[in-house]
Amino acid sequence: MRDNTEQKQAEAALIKEKEEVEKRTHQLQIYINELEAFAYSVSHDLRTPLRSIDGFSQMLFEHYNDKLDDEGKSYLQRVRSASQRMAELIDDLINLSRVTRSEMHYETVDLSALARTITMELQQSQPERDVEFTIAPGLVAKGDAHLLRVALKNLLDNAWKFSRKQASAGIKFGYAETNGQPAYFVRDNGVGFDMAYANKLFGAFQRLHAPDEFEGSGIGLATVQRIIHRHGGKIWAESAVGQGATFYFTL
Ligand SMILES: Nc1ncnc2c1ncn2[C@@H]1O[C@H](COP(=O)(O)OP(=O)(O)OP(=O)(O)O)[C@@H](O)[C@H]1O
Ligand SMILES: [Mg+2]
Repeated sequence: MRDNTEQKQAEAALIKEKEEVEKRTHQLQIYINELEAFAYSVSHDLRTPLRSIDGFSQMLFEHYNDKLDDEGKSYLQRVRSASQRMAELIDDLINLSRVTRSEMHYETVDLSALARTITMELQQSQPERDVEFTIAPGLVAKGDAHLLRVALKNLLDNAWKFSRKQASAGIKFGYAETNGQPAYFVRDNGVGFDMAYANKLFGAFQRLHAPDEFEGSGIGLATVQRIIHRHGGKIWAESAVGQGATFYFTL
């Protein structure tokens, strides 16, 4: 009899705790949505004054060209290129924010076909490059087709970019078991990176290579991680300097 009462009390406590966790999760989701909306609207609002800075610098350059000496012109050019760079960063932020805010439409997605299209486009963008693509056939997944395309494109773009110094570059897309867990992977034999910084990879605007060596904003992997998380999956990477890199993800 007493056992029964204790069990009932324990069950009631558990239910209460579960309700409490659900309430807090819901509250946190509201805060996250508010923050996302805030980031989105701030990014949007920053575009207008930035356009003014760029526009008026251009007018100054064009209409007052003969009144400016070379140093003045060079300063003005720097104002323009900095404001254009900032506009790009803002657009990156807006796109990153869209990834989290857009509605998910689940369907069966042919990842192999997606990878084939993306790699074909990459090859067409730089026909002079000699890259061997190996794409495992028949890889399908349930997910949002648009978001999965964005994720796969970012991973393959990186593989393409960071393998460009390789005389014979190779890029693979496949599905394999790693540490007992089956995962999709994108592998290249490019410059790789130091695993000591692996935890930084997925942060917005984080880059492990110098911009004069490899161009980019550092927003690609942050986007990919958000997409994978929205699908309830995980993403991680393995690499070593000069040994290429492999990005694994589950869905
Ligand atoms: N395949 C790879 N091989 C080596 N390093 C990589 C690879 N993929 C990503 N990295 C490292 O991680 C950083 C972050 O990648 P991410 O895709 O977010 O940025 P990015 O490619 O530099 O710029 P963006 O994708 O915004 O154009 C890169 O700058 C690079 O240092
Ligand atoms: Mg990238």
